[in-house]
Amino acid sequence: MCRIKAQGGEGTLEFDNIYGIIIKAIRNRKPEDDVNTIIKKTDISNIDMSVIDLAAQILKDGGLVAFPTETVYGLGADGLNENAAAKIYAAKGRPSDNHLILHIADEKELERLVKNVPDVAKKLMDAFWPGPLTLIFEKSDMVPKGTTGGLSTVAVRMPEHPIARKLIQTSQISIAAPSANISGKPSPTSGQHVIDDMNGKIDMIIDGGEVGIGLESTIVDVTCTPPMILRPGFITKEMLEDAIGEVAVDRAVLEKPDKDLKPKAPGMKYRHCAPAADFVIFSGKKENVINAIVNNAISSVEAGEKVGIIATDENIGIIRNKTSHIKDEVIIVSIGTEKDMETIAGNLYKVLRNFDKTDVGQIYGESFANENLGQAVMNRMCKAAGYNIVRV
Ligand code: TXA
Ligand code: MG
Repeated sequence: MCRIKAQGGEGTLEFDNIYGIIIKAIRNRKPEDDVNTIIKKTDISNIDMSVIDLAAQILKDGGLVAFPTETVYGLGADGLNENAAAKIYAAKGRPSDNHLILHIADEKELERLVKNVPDVAKKLMDAFWPGPLTLIFEKSDMVPKGTTGGLSTVAVRMPEHPIARKLIQTSQISIAAPSANISGKPSPTSGQHVIDDMNGKIDMIIDGGEVGIGLESTIVDVTCTPPMILRPGFITKEMLEDAIGEVAVDRAVLEKPDKDLKPKAPGMKYRHCAPAADFVIFSGKKENVINAIVNNAISSVEAGEKVGIIATDENIGIIRNKTSHIKDEVIIVSIGTEKDMETIAGNLYKVLRNFDKTDVGQIYGESFANENLGQAVMNRMCKAAGYNIVRV
């Protein structure tokens, strides 16, 4: 009988025959093979260490484990094991020039991953780690090309989520983890989203419920002066500037990338967080936006299309009234109140994913002010809409 003993960070667990077989299968698995995914729930405030121990063992054996972070769910593998990283690309259906973020639980781990830690990075780490901030450093020789896509730099983040932290600490692995969605789809903000995308493709999913933030981390390149935001997120430009002074923003964050304007975070060039339906965003005066949404919804329904509308709490009542005669053909959902961007950020991917479960062919939505957290929300909405923004 095959028995495997896993050393957990907090205790020891003996796996019975079935886990032994699973781990053997993981060792022998090729990236393209189908898998029986182990799905385990655990509570964020009362973490089941047997779940963490099993996940840690799978990671050590070169397997793939999806786990919650405070931003979105990550699809984790051993970041210093090139073969394990290759499995991530296969599971996501992701182009392999899209580099991975290494997740750590202790600043000491940086010593083996990066060449040097600039002073400005130390200040950012003091202010925002653990948390939703990823920093780009010069990589050390320890980090394989398969993790950084051949770049001389590496992205590192220290997540705050207790399950993510326990998994890193227990496995003693710098976990490479992109968002745990199929490439192109909105990032997963709940265990169910991960199950929808990854069941049968990866070894294990830790379902820790809904995440807190719902948008991917802010990425800041600290290898240049001034440091540059490559991807906006919950940690805003304003918050970064409070901590370190001047911060630049990659132009491709603010404008539509094209052949002459390539984003410095390679993953930002792909159409991304996109629902299956066409998505158009209207910006301008409130009355104009409401009228544009209503008129376009009516035209689309007349053309035989089912329509989805994403509205704020402030406008949803008016939009419902004005589209009541076509209500059977329209699904109107609230994304939250315009007074609370954190709620809107947290709802965005869930709302887009929910539309994928319906038969709407066209989605219309409002836009938001491009400042503070609104910058990250608008960045993701523009990508989801393929930059289809109509000024009205
Ligand atoms: O919140 C997050 O950051 C989540 C959770 C799981 O931690 N992760 C995440 O990973 O969003 P991913 O792989 O979906 O996005 C990583 C982004 C990509 O746009 C990638 O191109 C960029 O980070 N990136 C990674 N390494 C880089 C590097 N050395 N230089 C520039 N950009 C890099
Ligand atoms: Mg992603």
